[in-house]
Amino acid sequence: MTLSRPTRQVTEVDPDSPSSNRAEIQDDMARSGPIVATERREEQAPAPAQKGVAVQLEGLRAFYGKAEQVRGIDLDFRANEVTAIIGPSGCGKSTMIRCINRMHEEIPGAHAEGRVMLDEVDVYDPSIDVVAVRRAIGMVFQKPNPFPTMSIFDNVAAGLRLTARRGHLQAKVERALRGAGLWEEVADRLSEPGAGLSGGQQQRL
Ligand SMILES: Nc1ncnc2c1ncn2[C@@H]1O[C@H](COP(=O)(O)OP(=O)(O)OP(=O)(O)O)[C@@H](O)[C@H]1O
Ligand SMILES: [Mg+2]
Repeated sequence: MTLSRPTRQVTEVDPDSPSSNRAEIQDDMARSGPIVATERREEQAPAPAQKGVAVQLEGLRAFYGKAEQVRGIDLDFRANEVTAIIGPSGCGKSTMIRCINRMHEEIPGAHAEGRVMLDEVDVYDPSIDVVAVRRAIGMVFQKPNPFPTMSIFDNVAAGLRLTARRGHLQAKVERALRGAGLWEEVADRLSEPGAGLSGGQQQRL
């Protein structure tokens, strides 16, 4: 079975970034437990017709070895909305997000239990193509990690080359960089190392 839904993107936000009401939020979080609040707002861009739940977590548990760090999460992410996950450092936000596109299981000794539904498809079904899951559910990591030896261009092109979607590579790389708001800053230095960009630029890369 393969997944062919439009790409979803999950963005991790640097917890050290300034926030006017951070102390208040953290107080709330400390009172309420691990995954404590979701905030939803309609995206400004005109939404496609799709409605309802896009991603659904059912009894999701995640382990590092025997240590259970995500303990039975039931949570719906609605289509065409932004959902914010707020919780204290170390409570399992990143771990939960990595379970959604099956990156968690790449960590040696780690595994997940429960169900993650993308629309009607269980992404943990044994018949599922894991690479297709990750193609359908994109992820921007908390800590930027460009391929250190690759140029800016090659960092963007790497995924397309890997999945043999090399046609119009130049145009696709430009479109991706424009989509991330990075094109204007890197257009004249595409062959320079990706690791030479600032932290925020690396995250957009
Ligand atoms: N590779 C790993 N091996 C073992 N334990 C891990 C690993 N990664 C994370 N953990 C542990 O799992 C728990 C949840 O970590 P996670 O990174 O999901 O927290 P977080 O909520 O994203 O925190 P932060 O807000 O600091 O980013 C923590 O106790 C952490 O130490
Ligand atoms: Mg995190």
